[in-house]
Amino acid sequence: MQLYICWKLAVPALTHHLSLLERYPPNPQDDLQAWDSADEYLLQSLVASQLDPQRPILVLGDQFGALSCALAGSHVSVVNDSYVSHKAIEHNLNRQGLAQVQLLSPLDDWPQQPQLVLGRLPKQLSMLEFYLAKLKPLLAPDSLVFFAGRDRDIPERAEALLSRYLGPTDRLLGWKKARAFVSRSDGKAPLPQPAPLSWPLEGTDYQLVNHANVFSRQSLDIGARLLLANLPQGRFDRVIDLGCGNGVLALMMASQYPEARYQLVDESYLAVASAKANMAGNLPTVAADFIANNCLDGFERASADLVLCNPPFHQQQVVTDHIAWQMFKDAFKVLRQGGQLWIVGNRHLGYQIKLSKLFGGCQVVATDRKFIVLKAIKRRTS
Ligand SMILES: C[S@@+](CC[C@H](N)C(=O)[O-])C[C@H]1O[C@@H](n2cnc3c(N)ncnc32)[C@H](O)[C@@H]1O
Repeated sequence: MQLYICWKLAVPALTHHLSLLERYPPNPQDDLQAWDSADEYLLQSLVASQLDPQRPILVLGDQFGALSCALAGSHVSVVNDSYVSHKAIEHNLNRQGLAQVQLLSPLDDWPQQPQLVLGRLPKQLSMLEFYLAKLKPLLAPDSLVFFAGRDRDIPERAEALLSRYLGPTDRLLGWKKARAFVSRSDGKAPLPQPAPLSWPLEGTDYQLVNHANVFSRQSLDIGARLLLANLPQGRFDRVIDLGCGNGVLALMMASQYPEARYQLVDESYLAVASAKANMAGNLPTVAADFIANNCLDGFERASADLVLCNPPFHQQQVVTDHIAWQMFKDAFKVLRQGGQLWIVGNRHLGYQIKLSKLFGGCQVVATDRKFIVLKAIKRRTS
């Protein structure tokens, strides 16, 4: 059965859920919107499409559920390299009483021959390339691929990559500071998936693998470098690398303390996969778990001796310290009495104040022009 959605009827139906969307984790201190004009642009492209309920729709990069909520109940799979976005989508579908959608990571198998692909253009070119290389072999000759982004976030080479990886691509009119592109497969053999970046870790024999989208994937982060030069000494049985990225902090800690058990946690599936490859490739005998999660949700209280953390200072495109704050609060809960949280951050972010509030004090371990390494000890229970 072919379904044709009438423009006038569909626009309100497809967008009325937007005002109900919440960001995730809910943050009472901010009133930031959970969707933007790129989502609206993609929803409009749905209106002009003839949809077959039997054939899959693929959504790439939905952040908080703007696209998933509009498509709930149809044959839709939603891919995102973010555990937090997956939670956000589930949260918003539940709040609005909508059917769940299939949530996939970039590394899962995606549906074959989607009739329609709606993608948000990721800021990171490596993520876009990953999406496009994986998408091309799945496309049918009649698959329609829409990508949209906010003007300020669209990588310069996005349009060229769409043409190169998929085929003929049209740039649509700009609308509310967003832009969309529509592509079809050229039917040619797909380009291979670019290999993860791999580089030697300075001062070691280790090689670090970095999948697409991973933080500081081209070289060692300068904040991480300062923490690595000042790693904790002592006896640690259970160590958590919170926001592990490629796992460099846990890896270097494990090179000194190979007997400890490590948990490497990140919300990015590709970061977790990189961390796993790096531990397995460099220190294969170390006991380690690799976990995609939102901070330390669900971790056992009072169970860890040490948490290492180089916290993020933005969520999606928005600069915020609420994730860092959540990480510190979670670390406090998960540390046993006497356990330590070591963090590195930009000096101007004022993490001392936050840590002192939570732990009742913190020490400066090292500083340079830009960064500061801080240590906080959990002296009380709960
Ligand atoms: C500044 S990077 C640090 C990466 C790595 N530890 C390093 O030092 O190079 C922060 C990391 O936190 C992760 N992150 C962001 N939000 C998160 C969340 N809610 N839960 C877990 N990890 C998160 C990001 O994906 C990113 O890998």
